[in-house]
Amino acid sequence: MRATSRLSALTTQLLGPRSSRHYATMANDLSLKTEYTMLSGHKIPALGYGVYQTPADVAEEVVLHSFKAGYRHVDSARVYRNEGPCAEAIKKSGIPRSEIFFTSKVPPRAMGYEATKSSITSSFSQTGLDYIDLYLIHAPYGGKEARRGTWLALLEAQQAGRIRSIGVSNYGLHHLDELESYIHELEAQHGKGKGGEISVGQWELHPWLARPDIVGWCRERGVVIEAYCPIVRGQRFEEPVLKGLREKYGKTAAQILLRWSLQKGFVPLPKSVTPSRIEENADIFDFRLTDEEMKVLETGEYAPCSWDPTTSND
Ligand SMILES: NC(=O)c1ccc[n+]([C@@H]2O[C@H](COP(=O)([O-])OP(=O)(O)OC[C@H]3O[C@@H](n4cnc5c(N)ncnc54)[C@H](OP(=O)(O)O)[C@@H]3O)[C@@H](O)[C@H]2O)c1
Repeated sequence: MRATSRLSALTTQLLGPRSSRHYATMANDLSLKTEYTMLSGHKIPALGYGVYQTPADVAEEVVLHSFKAGYRHVDSARVYRNEGPCAEAIKKSGIPRSEIFFTSKVPPRAMGYEATKSSITSSFSQTGLDYIDLYLIHAPYGGKEARRGTWLALLEAQQAGRIRSIGVSNYGLHHLDELESYIHELEAQHGKGKGGEISVGQWELHPWLARPDIVGWCRERGVVIEAYCPIVRGQRFEEPVLKGLREKYGKTAAQILLRWSLQKGFVPLPKSVTPSRIEENADIFDFRLTDEEMKVLETGEYAPCSWDPTTSND
């Protein structure tokens, strides 16, 4: 058993399941340096920096700016076509590789065992990195066999040490249950722990799409939850529910939404190519929303601003 796993088993005994310890304590101790321990045993920074729709020719510069602002976590994907310049920024930053967390994702059109292996190979040739911290299945498309094949390819890359942690994005509850069954099947064939673990799940999450069912599923199992579109692409900044909070805390709507996300226990992944906004979105550790404000912000609506593959029955 690795030392981190032993420690984790001990804290689980002392404090209850990792998920409850994680969610109960973090709102008080949050800082730009906060990290969570994933089921893989590796750590993930609590704030990420998203690069969807960040053009390749500006990606290196803005990722470097995010490092200057204190982020240590870049959320990219094959389909964003900017893995190369993100990795260039990592190399040029002067920050030890071990202190930066880099994510990529299997494109929806590369589902299945062979296509996923090619996708992983392309990520390494584009980035020149020795390892990738996290590789997610971007969306649950392609059918059951393709999803299983993709998981197996990711698992093999993890076992080979090229990818440190693996997980999913945009999975509905039915996709999560299907994957969990497959993991149990692999464990029955190859032994405990040999089916892999869903270290991270990434979904669109914000006060108008809080996904309590999926979030509950992850919390019961200690899956770290990442929030994409955490500031709803700026579309909800004028909502009345944000006005009083903006005035009370002297913070922008984006900062209130990011703070809500952090206090929910999510890992928000705000995107911006604007230097002042990159800094603004990281300046969220000097105030704390009350429990009442957290509740008021959760609207109960189901209003995605992006795609929603969770509902796919593919
Ligand atoms: N797994 C998936 O399927 C999936 C889907 C979508 C997104 N993601 C990930 O999540 C990240 C974030 O999602 P997102 O980019 O769609 O949405 P988002 O972060 O909610 O919003 C980004 C938009 O808000 C603007 N913005 C950023 N900070 C601002 C601020 N402080 N004040 C005002 N406007 C601000 C940005 O403009 P400027 O850039 O012009 O400053 C951009 O137009 C992505 O980059 C990606 O890494 C994943």
